[in-house]
Amino acid sequence: MNIHAYEKLWLVAAMLLIVGFIATITYGSVALGITMVGDQQDTVEPTELADDDRFDDPRVEQVGENEYEAYVVAQTFSFQPNPIEVPEDSDVTFYVTSRDVIHSFSLVGTNVNTMVIPGEVAEMTVEFDDPAEYGVVCNEYCGPGHHDMEGEVHVVSEDEFDLTELEADGPDEVETGDEISVDVTTENRQLEAIETTITLEIGDETLTEDVTIEGGETLETTFTVDSATLGEGDHDWTVTVDDHTDSGTVTVADDLEDDGGDDDE
Ligand code: CUA
Repeated sequence: MNIHAYEKLWLVAAMLLIVGFIATITYGSVALGITMVGDQQDTVEPTELADDDRFDDPRVEQVGENEYEAYVVAQTFSFQPNPIEVPEDSDVTFYVTSRDVIHSFSLVGTNVNTMVIPGEVAEMTVEFDDPAEYGVVCNEYCGPGHHDMEGEVHVVSEDEFDLTELEADGPDEVETGDEISVDVTTENRQLEAIETTITLEIGDETLTEDVTIEGGETLETTFTVDSATLGEGDHDWTVTVDDHTDSGTVTVADDLEDDGGDDDE
């Protein structure tokens, strides 16, 4: 069979193109280390995130020596938590879902990018090396505040990084002579136990408690102060654990009007 020289040339060129296409696709998917966003996670009811173990409390937790998990909720028009703080030299797996409509979670200047679909959980593992700050933007039009929907990922140095969460709660008012109880919840989201001191300052009083909190554990502490030693009036209080503080104000009064709605304890 006689094939015309030009026809041969075209055949060879077409073959080369096909090989070229396959080579670029292979290079893009294997050599660059690009992976698809995982969709193997269990689905979640967007209206019931508050009852979901993964998303009831958007957070970062440690799961291995240099491994962390970040549970992120996107909603009109913000990301939670914000900023998302992770340490340098870490592998962070992001689990992202939406509380309402379709958003995206895109780290500016990187190839970390996923659609965030209500009901679905997008999973991506990202390797962070040096301390840096990344913007997080939403690439899917999600409503009038879409252009304002942004967050931040802070990659911080080992020294700066900690996963302690503090929350303190006290009464708004108490009657003179009653005790003032301030409940302190300290959570350690690292794997290693931490030894620290919880401090309550109120009026001229300073109360401290040395504590050890095991990895992944939450510690409840209650400080009690006699309101008589503080005297009548408004008293600001502050609870401190390492670099974290929480504060409030309690009013000590002689005769609290009893309007039936107040719970003084
Ligand atoms: Cu969220 Cu656009």
